[in-house]
Amino acid sequence: ESKVNRQATCSAPVNIAVIKYWGKRDEKLILPTNSSLSATLDQADLKTTTSVALSSEFDSDRLWLNGKEESITNPRLQNVLQKIRSLASERAQTDEEKAVLDAHVHIVSVNNFPTAAGLASSASGYACMVYTLAQVYGVTDYELSKIARVGSGSACRSMYGGWVAWNMGTRDDGDDSFAEQTHLADHWPGMKILILVVSDRKKGTSSTSGMGTSVRTSELLQHRITEVVPKRMAAIKEAIEARDFAQFGEITMRDSNQFHAVCLDTYPPIFYMNDTSKAVVQMVTQYNTMKGEVKAAYTFDAGPNAVIYAMEDAMAEIASLTSHFFPSTTPDTFFRGTTTAPPAPS
Ligand code: PMV
Repeated sequence: ESKVNRQATCSAPVNIAVIKYWGKRDEKLILPTNSSLSATLDQADLKTTTSVALSSEFDSDRLWLNGKEESITNPRLQNVLQKIRSLASERAQTDEEKAVLDAHVHIVSVNNFPTAAGLASSASGYACMVYTLAQVYGVTDYELSKIARVGSGSACRSMYGGWVAWNMGTRDDGDDSFAEQTHLADHWPGMKILILVVSDRKKGTSSTSGMGTSVRTSELLQHRITEVVPKRMAAIKEAIEARDFAQFGEITMRDSNQFHAVCLDTYPPIFYMNDTSKAVVQMVTQYNTMKGEVKAAYTFDAGPNAVIYAMEDAMAEIASLTSHFFPSTTPDTFFRGTTTAPPAPS
C-alpha cells in the first residue's frame, strides 16, 4: 500500500473592494447579488501565509490559526476541503495519487496583521488556504477562485493580483461566479493604498448576518443591485483603464457611501462606520475640495477602519494629515502599493 507525504507553503494578500460585494443570492454556494471589484495588496503587505502537510501518518484533519488550534468542523472550511478532495479524486490515477485521498491534512495559517481588526482576514485566509491545498492535492488546473468563494465571498478576489473583478454570474450552480484580473498592478504606477486602523475590535455584525438582513429588508439594496452596480462596474473599469483618478475616486467613494446607506436602510439598521470613520470622510472631502479635484478616495468595509486610495504624491500629504488629525491611529497605518504578484508558493 502506497504512503504519501506532501507539503506546501503559500501566501496571499488582502484585497480592498472599490465596488462592494453586499448580498448573497445563494448562501451555501456564496453566489452574490452583484459583481464587485478590488485591488489586491502586495505580497509584502497584509497577508496570510499557510502551510499544508498531507500525510498517511496523520489520523485526522487539524487546523491551527495564528498559533492556536481551532476546530476543523467549520462548515465553510469543510465545503472547501470537500471540493478540493473531490477534484483530486477525479484526477487520481497512480497508487500514490489514490493514497492522497485517504490521507489527512494539517493546516497552519498565520496572518501578519491583527486578525480581529476586521481587515479582510477571511479574504486572504481562504484564498491562501485554497491555493495551498490545491498545490498539495495537485488540482491547480481548476479555476480555484470558485473554491475560495465558497470559503468567503471576497476571498475569490485575493486569488489574483492587481485589479480584480468578481463577476456575479447567472447560473444556479455557481460555475460562472469567479474572479478575474482586469488589470495588472503595474498598469497604474504610483497608485497607493493606506489603511487606517480606527479600531482593532472585532466587528459587531458579521458580513454574513448583515448581508442576510439587507437582502431581506433593504429596498435600496434592490435598487443598487439592478440599477447602480452594473453601470459602476463598467465605469470603474474604464477609469482604471484610462488611469483617471478623479473618476476612479468618485466612483469608489460613492460606492462605499451607498453600501453604508444600504446598511442604514436595513431593518433593523446596521452601523459599521463610527465617528472617527466619519471624520476621515470629512478630512478626505476637504482635501479634495482644497485641491479642486478628487485626489484621494476613502472606502469602508464591514467595520470602522478607513482605507484611502491616492496617487503617491497626494498620499504623502494624506499620510501627514492623518497622523496630524488621527494621531492615535498612526501606529497601525500601512502605507503600501498594490501587487504585481498572485498568490505564490514560497
Ligand atoms: O467576504 P465577506 O463575507 O467577508 O464580505 C465582505 C464584504 C465587504 O468587505 C463589506 C465588501 C467587499 O466586497 O469586500
